Amino acid sequence: MSVAGKVRAVTTLRLTEMKQRGEKIAMLTSYDYSMAKIVDAAGVDVILVGDSAANVMAGYETTLPITLDMMIYHARSVVRAVSRALVVVDLPFGTYQGNSKVALESAIRIMKETEADAVKIEGGEEILESVNRILSAGIPVMGHLGLTPQSIHKFGTYNVRAKEEAEAEKLVRDARLLEAAGCFGIVLEKIPAALAERVSKELKVPTIGIGAGGGVDGQVLVIHDMLGISNDFSPRFLRRYADLHGVMSEAVGNYVSDVKSCDFPNEKEQY
Ligand code: KIV
Repeated sequence: MSVAGKVRAVTTLRLTEMKQRGEKIAMLTSYDYSMAKIVDAAGVDVILVGDSAANVMAGYETTLPITLDMMIYHARSVVRAVSRALVVVDLPFGTYQGNSKVALESAIRIMKETEADAVKIEGGEEILESVNRILSAGIPVMGHLGLTPQSIHKFGTYNVRAKEEAEAEKLVRDARLLEAAGCFGIVLEKIPAALAERVSKELKVPTIGIGAGGGVDGQVLVIHDMLGISNDFSPRFLRRYADLHGVMSEAVGNYVSDVKSCDFPNEKEQY
């Protein structure tokens, strides 16, 4: 639902229908009103208010420090801008693991205070009780398997996950469990393309990949990375569609020199 109470064009059901038709799903992150307005108007199907806001908006090393209040602030700003896309909000670290009642309270706060459409949570079997409780309240849940950044201190590296047989089999089991529980989709992050394709073929709900190859049902990227706003992050899976770092640096540099040289403002730019 949008703020005006209208159902947005993309629903969780529509995503499953897209998978059935073989139509790929385009998903991008957004964290603020202005960016979300552009992303929605450009035809993105799913907007993720990701906890990557911790990195690209707040400058933290990992996603762990971002709070539920911060996520709600970002999600509210995004929802105000969106009329078509489905808006999914990450439950941040510490708001759903270990206690399913706390998980439900966190998800309810997101749905009530932001008017977003769904929540996303990281993990499989370990967080299944939380997934079930959130779903039982009628809140759509998207799963997230593979490289789950909230577990970075357990992994110790941002390298590709599930290359070994045991981890790959656990991922397949977790994907089945999440689908059986009722998740409407699953993000697969940084896993071998063949494994992502196998999971995508087996599941009826759509898979959305990031660094998981082309055999998935859709793709997601962090908008700051794909627009080239940050130029110090270049994983193999990232395709840059613009060099906004260059464009913005040049524009700001020109502004500084125009101010210093008294070229700005000129006579037409004053009252
Ligand atoms: O927080 C985020 O941006 C994400 C995507 C990388 C999938 O979870």
